[in-house]
Formats: sequence, C-alpha cells, structure tokens
Amino acid sequence: MSRFWSDIVHRLVPYVPGEQPALAHPVKLNTNENPYPPSPRVLEAIRAELGEQGESLRRYPDPIAKRLRAAVAAHHGIRADQVFVGNGSDEVLAHAFQALLKHDKPIFFPDITYSFYPTYARLYEVEYRTVPLDEQFAIRIDDYLPQEGNPHGGVIFPNPNAPTGHALPLAEIERLVAANAESVVVIDEAYVDFGAESAVALIDRYPNLLVVHTTSKSRSLAGMRVGFAFGHADLIDALNRVKDSFNSYPLDRLAQAAATAAYEDAEWLKTMSARVIASRERLTAALAALGFDVVPSAANFVFARHPAHGAAEISARLREKEIFVRHFNAPRVNEHLRISIGTDAECDTLVDALRSILS
Ligand SMILES: Cc1ncc(COP(=O)(O)O)c(C=O)c1O
Repeated sequence: MSRFWSDIVHRLVPYVPGEQPALAHPVKLNTNENPYPPSPRVLEAIRAELGEQGESLRRYPDPIAKRLRAAVAAHHGIRADQVFVGNGSDEVLAHAFQALLKHDKPIFFPDITYSFYPTYARLYEVEYRTVPLDEQFAIRIDDYLPQEGNPHGGVIFPNPNAPTGHALPLAEIERLVAANAESVVVIDEAYVDFGAESAVALIDRYPNLLVVHTTSKSRSLAGMRVGFAFGHADLIDALNRVKDSFNSYPLDRLAQAAATAAYEDAEWLKTMSARVIASRERLTAALAALGFDVVPSAANFVFARHPAHGAAEISARLREKEIFVRHFNAPRVNEHLRISIGTDAECDTLVDALRSILS
C-alpha cells in the first residue's frame, strides 16, 4: 500500500493465475493448457515470419491483424469485420467489460464462474450481481432473463462454464440472447472445442451477442496470447475503439503468424481435441472408481470432489509429488479440485498418486 496509489488501486482484487512451477518435469494439470504441441504449421509460420536474421522484428506488427482476422473469419464462415483480435481472450474480455458491459444497471454472471469477471468489474467499476448455479452446478437461463424489477445491464458467462465444465445447449443460449435484446450477452467459449456447441452461428441474427474465443486451449497456444471476439460489426467497432485508446499493437508479429497457421490447420485441431476428449472420459472413469464425484465436463478439465477427503489437503499432498491441480478457496467450491486433462500418462500418474493419498 502506498499514498501514491490511486483510489481504484486500493479497491482492486487482482486475479491470481494458476502456478507455473519452476520444475523440470511437473505434472501440470492446473491451468487448462493443452498437453499436446500446436500444429507443426505454427512453427513453420513463426520461422518464416522471423526470417533468417529476425529482420522482420524491426517493424511494428499489423495493428489490425488483417491476415489473421481473414483466416479466422473464413474458418467460422463470417466476415472479417465481425472479428476482433486481442492479446489473449483475457484482454478481449477486459475490453468487453469496458466497452459493452459498463452501463447504469448491474451485469449478471454466475456465482461459480471464471474468477476474472469480478476482477474486471472492479477494475472498470462495473456493478455486478452473481446468480447461483443450481445444485448440479448448471446455469439456469431463466435466472438471466430480463424481468420487471430485475433489470440488468448485460450477461457474461463461459460455455462450457469454468471451473465446472458444464455446458448449455445452443438452444438455451439463443433463448437468452433473444429475450435480452436490450443489453449485450457475452458468451466466453474458451473451451467450446472440447464438446460444446458454439454460438458464433448466431451472431448474424443477434446484434447483442458477443462470442469470445481463445487459441490458448484447443489450439495449444497459451504462450502466444491470442484471443478473439465475434459479433455484430457495431460491437466489434466498440472493442476497436477501446483497443486503439489503449494499445494499437496488442498482438506481436509471431503471435499473428502462429495463430493464422493454427486456424489454417483445422485437421490438427480436430485430431488433438478428440484426443483430449478421450482422455477426459478415461480420467473421469478413473476418478469415479476412486470414489470422486465428477461433474460431467464438456471442457479440457474436470471438476471433482471426494466425499471423504478435503480438496485442500489432496491438492497439497499432490503438490509434494510435483503434481499440480487447481483448488479454489471459495464458497461452494472449496471441496472441489479442478483438474486439467493431461496426456494419458500424466493422468495415470495423477490417479496413482491419488490412490496412494486416499488409502
Ligand atoms: C473461461 C475462461 N475464459 C478466458 C480465459 C483466458 O484465456 P486466454 O487469456 O489465455 O485467452 C480462461 C483461461 O483460463 C478461461 O478459463
């Protein structure tokens, strides 16, 4: 604390990212990274972009990431003016809070969800209300419909939700977006490629829908920091206005080249996502066999609790074995562990360690 801090800095509650341990070979199942490398085309594209002596690095990158936006628009069958690009979807989400969710009424998001949302709300002074998930950790769309006496200035949640992995069908998302014409609905689809239905197909019909994607999960590019928003050109324009008042060049050259190549290799995405999904089902069965209750997941992680063993203790014991999972010390979820899907070998190491801890 310092007398030099602005008022708002005193009030911030910064997001705490999962640990990046400085160990040679940790079993790292705590930040929902992909256990497989990106498409080989990504490496080729980075090398080509660098040139023999890295001469391209002298120049600023394309501020509007034209080539990347064209590749992503082609992938989704939409127009480039419906695509916004940012430095990771976290930055895209931050801009959405400032550009589209900050109005005179509170926004709604679930009580159990991505913990960056309340952080952004505090940063940009966006009033918010949290809406409880049901007993099965599902979002009830009825709770988000605008009602007399319960108006809101917008809605944001991930689909599949994090950290639960629970996914809503597209028809439910559409019901919300259609009933909520007076404010923006942001659907954060960070994990959509692992088994949920994307709402990108709806953006032509609903000018109040913004869909956020990332290359960090299914495209194995967490280290590159590339995220997107898809929506009506007016929403994208708002994000660009904020971006160009903040940082004209949020995406470096290598990130743009890497993400473009990743989008041009749809086959790699399909193969690797299928592999992660198969491992998720395998891990879910193994955890159930050890007595865990596992929330059915459509993401690259599972959310599980053991009825007889505390999550904080299990997490600490795993850590001693250099196995990292995520434990949130928060109401309703502090008995759960969020476990990212690793390779089958990593999942087996985890299951063996759990077996010995529980016995
Ligand atoms: C729901 C959700 N949205 C967004 C992100 C941010 O992803 P990135 O900034 O790496 O694109 C995450 C990261 O874990 C997430 O869980």
